[in-house]
Amino acid sequence: MDSLRWSRGWVVFVVAVGLCTPWALSQRRGSAFSKPPTNLKVLEVDDPEDLRPIMQNFDRSLGVTCGFCHNREDWAEDTPHKETARKMIEMVREINAEVFTWERAPRATCNMCHNGSVYPHFNPPAPAGE
Ligand code: HEC
Ligand code: HEC
Repeated sequence: MDSLRWSRGWVVFVVAVGLCTPWALSQRRGSAFSKPPTNLKVLEVDDPEDLRPIMQNFDRSLGVTCGFCHNREDWAEDTPHKETARKMIEMVREINAEVFTWERAPRATCNMCHNGSVYPHFNPPAPAGE
C-alpha cells in the first residue's frame, strides 16, 4: 500500500514538473517585453507590452517562433528576416491605406498571404481528383 502511495506521489510530481516547465520557460521569454524597445523603425508603441500581441501574430501567421527573426540574446539586433519583416509591415500598411479602403474593408494582414508558412503558396492547389 505504502509503495503504491509513494509511486502515486511520484506520478503527481512528474506531471506537475511537466506542466510547469513550458510555463516557466514562457515566463522567461516574456521578459523580452519588460524593457522599452531601442530599435523600432516602423512600429510605434507606448508600452513595450503592446509589442507582445504583434509579435505573437507574426509567429502564428508565418508558422515560426521568435528566433526565426530574432537573436533571443538581443531582441533589438537586426537580422535579415527582421529586415524583410519591416518591409512587409510597410507593404501591409500601404495596402490598407491605398487599396483596402472600401467601407468595412477587411484589413490586410500578414496571414492573408502567409497563412501559416514562411513562403506563401503562389499557385492554387491541384484540381481535385488528380
Ligand atoms: C517575422 C519576423 C518576426 C517575428 C517572428 C518576431 N518578431 Fe519581434 N520584431 C520584428 C521586427 C521587424 C521588429 C522591429 C519593428 C520596428 O522596426 O519597428 C521586432 C521588434 C521586437 C522587439 C523590440 C526590440 C527593440 O528593442 O527594438 C522585441 C522585444 C521583439 N520583437 C520580440 C519578439 C518576440 C518575443 C517574438 C516571438 C513571440 C518576436 N519578436 C517575433 C520581427 C519579428
Ligand atoms: C501580399 C502578400 C504578403 C503579405 C501581406 C505579407 N507577406 Fe511576407 N512574404 C510574401 C512573399 C511572396 C514572400 C516570399 C518572398 C521570397 O520568396 O523571397 C514573403 C516572405 C516573408 C518572409 C521571409 C523571407 C525573408 O527574406 O525573410 C518574412 C520574414 C515575411 N514575409 C514577413 C511578413 C510579415 C511580418 C508580414 C505582415 C506584416 C508579411 N510578411 C505579409 C508575401 C506577403
